[in-house]
Parts: sequence; structure tokens; C-alpha cells
Amino acid sequence: MSKLERRLSTSVLVIGTGGSGLRAAIELAERGVDVLAVGKRPKLDAHTSLAAGGINAALGTMDAEDSWQQHAADTIKESYLLANPHTVQIVAQGAARGIHDLERFGMGFAREEDGRISQRFFGAHKYRRTAFAGDYTGLEIQRALVRRATQLSVPILDTVYITRLLVRDNVVFGAYGFDVNDGTRYLVHADAVILAAGGHTRIWRRTSSRRDENTGDSFRLAVLAGARLRDPELVQFHPSGILEPENAAGTLVSEAARGEGGILRNAVGERFMERYDPERMELSTRDRVALAAYTEIKQGRGTPNGGVWLDVSHLPRETIMNRLPRVYQMMLELQMRDITTSPMEIAPTAHYSMGGVWVRPEDHGTDVAGLYAIGEAASGLHGANRLGGNSLIELLVYGRIVGATVADYTAGLDAQRRSREAVGEARAEIDGLLSADGRENVRALQRAIRNTMTEHAGVVRDEQGLRTGLTELGAIEDRMTDIGVHPDIAGYQDLAHAFDLKASALAARATLEAALERRETRGCHNRSDYPNLDPTLQVNLVWSPTAGIVREEIPPVPTEIAELMQDVSTVGKLVE
Ligand code: FUM
Repeated sequence: MSKLERRLSTSVLVIGTGGSGLRAAIELAERGVDVLAVGKRPKLDAHTSLAAGGINAALGTMDAEDSWQQHAADTIKESYLLANPHTVQIVAQGAARGIHDLERFGMGFAREEDGRISQRFFGAHKYRRTAFAGDYTGLEIQRALVRRATQLSVPILDTVYITRLLVRDNVVFGAYGFDVNDGTRYLVHADAVILAAGGHTRIWRRTSSRRDENTGDSFRLAVLAGARLRDPELVQFHPSGILEPENAAGTLVSEAARGEGGILRNAVGERFMERYDPERMELSTRDRVALAAYTEIKQGRGTPNGGVWLDVSHLPRETIMNRLPRVYQMMLELQMRDITTSPMEIAPTAHYSMGGVWVRPEDHGTDVAGLYAIGEAASGLHGANRLGGNSLIELLVYGRIVGATVADYTAGLDAQRRSREAVGEARAEIDGLLSADGRENVRALQRAIRNTMTEHAGVVRDEQGLRTGLTELGAIEDRMTDIGVHPDIAGYQDLAHAFDLKASALAARATLEAALERRETRGCHNRSDYPNLDPTLQVNLVWSPTAGIVREEIPPVPTEIAELMQDVSTVGKLVE
């Protein structure tokens, strides 16, 4: 078993090689700062590459009336007033620059005949403001960022699993991990660390994340380092995940399918959105469409497989091939289904962590000096319902801001103290797992967590279910003391899965506890025992293992944005 340890030093360590991590690394490199990016999967296959339908900025290329203020107003309104207005303002105001940065990096956006960037409708946006590249937007962004990072010679290690952040006296000084292929340990000393390792949606059974991504790594790393989580219970269930084959259940059918005119029907042929949001229909907000689909299925109007139909077959074939090429290919590959002639069977899928590590709006610094979090790892922008397309722009805007902030932070450091004890703990943790030969299987326990979360903390929740979920999770945590970890000739994936399991358990506990505390229905969080929105819960819930849950006030919405917001109503939010 490998005991080799590589010791590296860098000014800034970026954990995660998706869009936000790479954008921050690029900013640092462009400013001449030494940066190292590490990830646990191939950089061109980071989770960002799965993002499909688009990226938002009020460019006004299609609807000249659009403005960053309106973008901010739509975002705050649809967050059910849980988004931090300062964060929203920063993203909406910085969005156009984010798009220009991507153009500078060579990103190929879809364009109108006269050369304008095309923008399409996504759910609940007042105007067309979602720029795109077919339904491969995330992949094109990822390619552009990798290209730029390569031009700048940013070193990227994409087989390194980070297991611990290294902290002394509440100041981060690096991280520890191992190579998933050969087990080589990595001790990385750094002035600052940017955590960009995604969210926790892989702790549900049906999810748009793949097997070893979004397992809550960021949450665990941050919490063990002394940071806190904000709103972990606010998880976006996207309305359209496929049902088959079983091993790909939850894979996303982009919202672009509805944006381009796709229609939802239940098993008896009704266009059911008429009942839930007759005005916006399929272009209603994600939380409403997901809940509507869930309700149809629960009330017995679902397909035999437990889904509803999403149909684009009435659209011109050319539209499907040009604007939805990925969905077309994916359905052929996975189901041998031609969507130009037949509908897709879909159901809600856990898609996005709207909560995440607690960060300051202005620079995404955490409670730990020198530790920053961005992208899906962070929180503040989305509140209780994320507008499609806002996550990709968040990566670009905060990637740049955090890169610039961290460049200044490292320049301002006079000295940095390390801790042999912290390094020793990180080493011992891996040693302990590698010598674990218990009877419990790591993958089976991950599956158990996913079952618990699906049964008790899915689209609709209640007190009794959440309490049962916590009891089940406690039993799983007990079983985790008797795991066996067996790396083999193929590599150290079993060790990675053991850490994924630890992260998933922590993320599940935070989610269940916060979901219990939020005794109301708001956005994605549907409590059948508390079906109404409670104005006293217009707060963020901040979680840590020591302090439990603390309520955090949200600053007021600036007048120029508030004036553009319509009332937040819960009409159409049917809870079973
Ligand atoms: O449906 C989609 O294309 C997803 C977009 C998003 O989550 O922003």
C-alpha cells in the first residue's frame, strides 16, 4: 500500500476543477499568482460539463428592455426572498462581464444571423436572457476554461482526492489528500484555499449527478475546518430527470426542452401545468413544475414507471437538432428513443444544492481565514428556488472576484504558521481507513443514505418523515464504524468512496436537521405538515455540528430592485 507522500507548495490551492475553480485559477494566473488546481475527476469531465441549457446575463440582445436590475429582481423574487440581495446584485451586475470573459476565452455561443448572441427563455425569467451553446453550454464553458488555463500553464492535478483542509488557529495553510489511482499522498502547503468542489445532490437516489460527484465533499471539508453551512435543506429538484435505465436514473433533460416549447402531460393526456400555473405553464419556476409533476404521480396520474411525459415531438425537427442536440443524442443512446417522434418519460431529480458553505457576499470568504468557497459549494444567490442558468453565471462572476480577492490576501500575508498536529491527523485518518477491515460495505452504506434521503427528505417532507430520516441516519452512522476499505490493483477508488460516505453522512445530517427546523413551505422546500409560507422564517438557517441551527437575518432588498419585483405568491403550490 502506497505510503509515498508528495509535498507541494503553492500560493493558492483550488480544490475542484469545474467552472468556478478554473475561473478563479485563471484570474490568479492572469495576475501572476502561483496557483495549483486539483480535482478528483478528469478536468474536461468536471460536473460543469453536464450543465446544459444556458447561462444568464441581461445582455438585451433579444429583449432590449432587459436590465441587470430586472435580472436581480427575478432572482430574488423566485428565491422566495431567501437570496442575499447583495450577492444577487453582484452576480446580476457582473454577468455581462462574465459572458465577455467567456468570449475572450474563445467560447462559441449560439448566435443570431446578424452575429448577436442568442438568448432564450428559461423558466420564470421576465425576458430572454439565457445565452447558450445548443444544450451543451456547460461543456463549451468547461472547454473554454480548460483551454485558457492551459495557455496560462496553470498546473492541474485531476486525480487527487482532498480529504482534509489544514488549519491552525482558524487560518488555513493547505490541504491533504491522495491520488485515486496509485494512493500517493499529497501534502499541499498554500497561503489560501479556494473550495470549489460542488454540492450534495448525490445523496438522493434519483439525481442529475454522477456516481462520484456532488457527494457533499465541500460541506465536510469546510465544516471540519471550522466553517458553517447555510440552508443545506434547500435543494433544487429539477422537474425532468429520466427514469430509465436504472443506472442512469435522474440524468437531466434540460429545461431548454421546455424553453423551446416542450409540453408536459400526465398519463391520461392532460396538460397538467394548467392546474398549477395556467399563465406560465411549462415555463413556470422549477419548484412549481417539479412539485406539479410529483403531485400528478403521487395522485395516480403518472405513467406506469412513475413519471410524466415531456413532449417536444411537435417542434420542427431542425429546432430539436440545433437547440436540443444533447437531449436528442442522450435519449437515443440510453433508451433508443427518438424524441422527434416520441415523448420522454421524466420525473423530478435532485439537481442543485442551493444552500452550501456560509460565505460573505462581497468576497466569498468563509469563517476560516484564507478559506474561500465558490460555485455550488457556496451559498447566498439562489435562496429557495434557483432560476435555471444562474448557476453558470455565478461561476464566472465569483470565480473572477474570488481569484482577485485571494491574490490580494496572499500578497498581504507576512507569515504563515503551520501545524504538524493537523497534518498528523490528516495522515492518521487515511491510515485508519486503509487498515479498516470491517464487515460493512462502503457503497452499500452510501446507498442506504440515498434511500433514507429519498424516502424522508425528497420533494415533499414532513416532521415525522424527517425524524425517521434522522433515526435511520444515526443507525447508518453506527454501521460506519465497522467499514472495510479495500483498494486493489485497479486503484484507490474504495478509499475515495469511504470519504464520499463520510461527506454524504455529514451533508445528510445537516440537511435533515435544517429541513426539520424550516417548518413552512417555501420554494423547493415543501412541508406537507406546514403548507404555508411563514414570514418569520424569511431567514437563512446556518448549521454547524456544534451550534446546531442559528437563524440569520437577510438584508433588505434595495429599492431599485424591489420596485421591479412582483409579489411572491404561493398560488399554485399544491401540497398533497
Ligand atoms: O435544465 C437545464 O438546462 C439546467 C440548467 C441549470 O440548472 O441552470
